Amino acid sequence: TSARLTVDAASPIGEVRRKIFGGFVEHLGRHIYDGIHEPTHETADAEGFRTDVIDLVKELGVDTIRYPGGNFVSGFRWEDSVGPLEERPRRLDLAWHSTETNEVGLHEFSSWLDKVGSDLMMAVNLGTRGTLEAIDLLEYCNIGSGTALSDRRVANGAEMPFDIRMWCLGNEMDGPWQLGHRSAEDYGKLASRTAKGMRQLDPSIQLVVCGSSGATMPTFGEWERVVLTHTYEDVDLISCHAYYEEKDGDIDSFLASAVDMDRFIETVVATADHVGAVQRSSKKIDISFDEWNVWYLSRWENVEKIDGIDNWPVAPRLLEDVYSVVDAVVFGSLMISLLKHADRVASASLAQLVNVIAPIMTEPGGPAWRQTTFFPFSLTSRLAQGTALRVLVDAPSYETAVFGEVPLVDAVATRDDESGRSSVFLVNRSRTESIEVTVDVSGLGVASITETHTLSDDDVYAKNTLADRERVAPRANESARVENGTLTITLPPVSWTAVALS
Ligand code: AHR
Repeated sequence: TSARLTVDAASPIGEVRRKIFGGFVEHLGRHIYDGIHEPTHETADAEGFRTDVIDLVKELGVDTIRYPGGNFVSGFRWEDSVGPLEERPRRLDLAWHSTETNEVGLHEFSSWLDKVGSDLMMAVNLGTRGTLEAIDLLEYCNIGSGTALSDRRVANGAEMPFDIRMWCLGNEMDGPWQLGHRSAEDYGKLASRTAKGMRQLDPSIQLVVCGSSGATMPTFGEWERVVLTHTYEDVDLISCHAYYEEKDGDIDSFLASAVDMDRFIETVVATADHVGAVQRSSKKIDISFDEWNVWYLSRWENVEKIDGIDNWPVAPRLLEDVYSVVDAVVFGSLMISLLKHADRVASASLAQLVNVIAPIMTEPGGPAWRQTTFFPFSLTSRLAQGTALRVLVDAPSYETAVFGEVPLVDAVATRDDESGRSSVFLVNRSRTESIEVTVDVSGLGVASITETHTLSDDDVYAKNTLADRERVAPRANESARVENGTLTITLPPVSWTAVALS
């Protein structure tokens, strides 16, 4: 089987903004406690943070990190998470039926971010709290000193403001599971009031309004229209969330998940532009894809859920999905989808980072390791530089139950004019066939291959586990060559590939 691809270097999609390589850390399960924070671990630093995890987060190459939730934020009282440790309350976390000790709070997390070299993207609670608490938190974080809340921050040890640039106006407010869930109309009004108040305090912040928790939500499309009708001039971005999983053994549809992500992004962009047209606005609303991943959500719903009035564990094992090769291939194709929409996807957050549906796993008192999904993220983050370029694909297609006819190959490219480096990212969705791909790269002005990485395995369900931590890793693709402006490469079945050229 073969396919012919052409990189369209003449009309770039848009700049690859570093913020699309963001992450997400929620107070959930063993993400913070027994994940990034384990004071008794042999690698722990003076603040109790595992330095082996810090090293892996740096290697992953994450930009802005969204915090502290997720569903958790809709019950979050930010005041609990600051001040002397011994005075911090233990609280029920209703979202995950757990106990939050508040041992790690805003200051500790901000210090951890300095260590990993990432910026904070903060979410405010618009589920059970409102405009005033959001403004208070912003004052605490972004005002230098001389007011009640900024002085409290200084007294709590942070002389300089946190200066947080990006703020999420709540989380998944369209979801019936969300504490304080409300209608698009009610949420839109609250988000507009809150955004206006926050901007009165700091006009320079970027604000993200909640879009849909998924394209399958019954309110999808109309939610965006109504919410943006109330908030269009108040916000900069609207969020999208999407999780994919292999359902009922239908690996063919699962491999085509990026088709859904493509349509999701394009539908939200169209809806936002429609509202802009109705409002005669010249402004464009961008997308913050601030939760995306493979997540075996049905396992959480059917097997893992915690209940019981006397059962509120601290840091239980929750959402600890172990990812396979096929999961990583789908994951890589989702990153291709984000890059294909670089003109409007201004920010994205992989959900999540450590232990909880995460590329990095840890064992208490034991090692930290890379899941299969670690590799497409770290490689794309490192190699996708400059501008994103469309790749025209002429490839055979296959039939899927969920998405109909889908091309077997998908791809995107990037070019960095400054360094002269380019990259091509490719996926082969065929379960059985290797595909010999020729890519016309003549528009890139490249002559040689500098790196190739292909993730594939004879066992598409192979995983990295505590017992076998390095079972899966990408390998160099020896078939790749570039001659007279044409890159030729063989993509094995169910594979994700990155090629760097210069
Ligand atoms: O990432 C896990 C959960 O998924 C988040 O808390 C929530 O926002 C989403 O439903």
